[in-house]
Amino acid sequence: MKEAGLSTKPYERLRIEAAPVAFFETPVVIAQLKHAQDLLVDLRAAIVARQAISAGVSRSNLGGWHSETDMLDWGGPAAAKLAQSAVGLAKRVSHFQESSPDAYDWTVRMWANVTPPSGLNQLHAHPQNLWAAVFYVDMGDGHAEEEAERSGALFLEDPRFPMCAMHHTAFRLIGQDGQPQAYQPELKPKAGHLVLFPAWLRHGVRPHHGKVERISIAMNIDALPRARS
Ligand SMILES: [Fe+2]
Repeated sequence: MKEAGLSTKPYERLRIEAAPVAFFETPVVIAQLKHAQDLLVDLRAAIVARQAISAGVSRSNLGGWHSETDMLDWGGPAAAKLAQSAVGLAKRVSHFQESSPDAYDWTVRMWANVTPPSGLNQLHAHPQNLWAAVFYVDMGDGHAEEEAERSGALFLEDPRFPMCAMHHTAFRLIGQDGQPQAYQPELKPKAGHLVLFPAWLRHGVRPHHGKVERISIAMNIDALPRARS
């Protein structure tokens, strides 16, 4: 920095104490369901059975089978337990002014994704909901080592994008962990992981390089004020 020939010597003892504060946090919850083996088996069985009788729908998925969003009607007790777990997580990161999350009726729409090798999900959001969640039943592993890194990764787009890249595309803000904040951070979940994030946060799935199908379950979670009787 140019100092215009001025002497800063009188201020040599000046020191700076700084503690950056992170405002505007976006909670992304990465949970692991423990003792979930029976749940995984039952969810897979329900999905395989449904796929055999339903053509599914086309949404953000490129390739693969995307069920209707009524999995709670055909997924049995396993689907109900998964929905209950996701709502429990959502309540932990939800606050309503002058009210409690328990004073709301929480709703879940659930669907299954069966992704073949090279399938992916394009960047999208889940409008008209508070939260989105994904549960991983089978990562469809078996990919080549060099492709394992990003295969099937869930990527999240910085909600400040593209504002944060407008002035200088190479510029990044340093986060509280001391690292530059990526515009599209990636998560590499494992079977049994449940990931929850705000429904407005745009996200997608990198191409799946596994040799077998990858199975995940997505949820739209909302909370409606309870009707007074
Ligand atoms: Fe999604």
